[in-house]
Amino acid sequence: MTREGSPVHASSVPEDRVEWPRELSPRGVDVWYCTGSHHPALEESSVLNRLTVEQRSQADRLAGTKNRRSFLAARLLLQGVLAGYCECEPSSLEYSTGAFGKPFLSSPCPAVTAGLQFNLSRSAEVVAVAVGYMPLGLDIEKQRPLTRERAFLARQFSPAEQEYVRCSPDPQSSLFEIWCRKEAYLKALGLGIFHPLKKCPVAPGCTLPGLEPLIGQPRLDWDIRSLALPLPDYAAALCSPAPVPSPRVIPLTCAELLEATP
Ligand SMILES: CC(C)(COP(=O)(O)OP(=O)(O)OC[C@H]1O[C@@H](n2cnc3c(N)ncnc32)[C@H](O)[C@@H]1OP(=O)(O)O)[C@@H](O)C(=O)NCCC(=O)NCCS
Repeated sequence: MTREGSPVHASSVPEDRVEWPRELSPRGVDVWYCTGSHHPALEESSVLNRLTVEQRSQADRLAGTKNRRSFLAARLLLQGVLAGYCECEPSSLEYSTGAFGKPFLSSPCPAVTAGLQFNLSRSAEVVAVAVGYMPLGLDIEKQRPLTRERAFLARQFSPAEQEYVRCSPDPQSSLFEIWCRKEAYLKALGLGIFHPLKKCPVAPGCTLPGLEPLIGQPRLDWDIRSLALPLPDYAAALCSPAPVPSPRVIPLTCAELLEATP
């Protein structure tokens, strides 16, 4: 959210090979993202063999080559990143899902016992995962012109949000900024867009709707911030239970991801 504080910029670029993470402070959040996630090599058997039977059959059920490859890239990114923090073999990672489908780690390892959590987002050729010792919501969206923008705004945005977009010098980017904030907030709660978006105002300065009773949790003081990824036409937002001082943003290419994963 450029109008409410400093955006976050990419901080470290891997060089020849990927150094998967090992350490993360209790209040820190790392956001890993991978570009070029429609790479054909993602469907090679040597890559598919790195995934679990369940992940492979989930991929098989997805319609569309690009969607399937993006799903596969997301699994490779997740296993590299999470195995690093958990200091375990990627094949030993275990996942469960919440009532509305939010995946979480259930591996019996010290990092998970200490509360390590993640959230994943995919849009067009980018996949991204946020990791920290707290509930997180991440959303990334490729900006594109919306043919029925007015109808979309009326259906999905509160009156204050519609006004925010209308008054913006760059309405399209403001629209995606708000859109990412909504999804990041609902994903942090684990609700996803199961909850009506219009009833979830997230414009800068507004009071969040307090949806925790829907998931049986006490109210938290959520912070939603935009991530200024160095990717033209992409908007992104991160939601956490308290402001994260300076999230580390770590870029990878799909080629690096393919090489890096054991
Ligand atoms: C999750 C959801 C917000 C995805 O939005 P999106 O912008 O299309 O996709 P994103 O790429 O940002 O996020 C997708 C990822 O979020 C995660 N996710 C799935 N459900 C989630 C939830 N309820 N909360 C948080 N994260 C969720 C998954 O890791 C998913 O990755 P995958 O598609 O590779 O499996 C949307 O699909 C949703 O709301 N689903 C749950 C609500 C619902 O209808 N549930 C039906 C059962 S009650």
